[in-house]
Amino acid sequence: MNDRTTSHDRVLARRHAEGWMFLLEAARDQRTTGAIAPSGPALARALTDPVRVLGPRPLAILEAGAGTGAVTRALIPQLSSGSRLDIVDANPRFTARLRHLVATHPHLAGRPRQVRVHQTFIEQLDTAQRYDVIVSGLPLTNFAPHQVETIMSRYMELLHPGGTLTYFAYRGTLKARALLASRAEARRHAAVGEVMGSYQRRYATGCWTVWANLPPAHVWHLRRPLASHREQEHPPTGARR
Ligand SMILES: C[S@@+](CC[C@H](N)C(=O)[O-])C[C@H]1O[C@@H](n2cnc3c(N)ncnc32)[C@H](O)[C@@H]1O
Repeated sequence: MNDRTTSHDRVLARRHAEGWMFLLEAARDQRTTGAIAPSGPALARALTDPVRVLGPRPLAILEAGAGTGAVTRALIPQLSSGSRLDIVDANPRFTARLRHLVATHPHLAGRPRQVRVHQTFIEQLDTAQRYDVIVSGLPLTNFAPHQVETIMSRYMELLHPGGTLTYFAYRGTLKARALLASRAEARRHAAVGEVMGSYQRRYATGCWTVWANLPPAHVWHLRRPLASHREQEHPPTGARR
């Protein structure tokens, strides 16, 4: 009973500290931090579902925009022994915290190279690795449309054919910006919506609302097709009927 209370207290204390850290980073740079609190457990679960569905086989997973590790904590216990997780965040204070999480997580004891933390912008991640699942926590609706296009096309390139990208967007932000922000800001947000819409129309396999998060969020799952688009539109001559 005492032990349980102590571990519950530890979790609460950690969440409290991470909540403050998030708030502080949001005050420093709201555009890049993109939220004033980490994702809750229901959102973390919806974002990591594809890993659960793929089961215990070895997977290559990328988490972009990991923040204080709310989603990372849902990913780590699912890593089978042959799996690899690359974690990326642009903010050095968040990556310091993520390195500590990786170094002390009991599931990773004795597996030092299974998880790597990279402090960089995802657009600049230099890797030849391809992934089965990419989990994105980036605040895409805060970015310029051309930056969102760059990031989305890079995600698609980083996925294995058949691989899945998951990401979230808070509900109601487009309407809120249309009402409350400047015209230029509302136009920028609408243009980002168009970029995202074009990816959703081509690749989406599902979209869910997670109400048990503050604020509630849409979670999208997109899949890179098994054949490239070019191949689908112009199949090799031998493959035509
Ligand atoms: C909304 S927070 C999400 C944090 C965490 N995934 C969660 O759900 O609680 C967005 C995170 O993305 C990071 N970020 C923003 N732009 C980035 C970029 N271009 N490349 C890598 N990380 C970025 C921020 O530093 C921040 O940690």
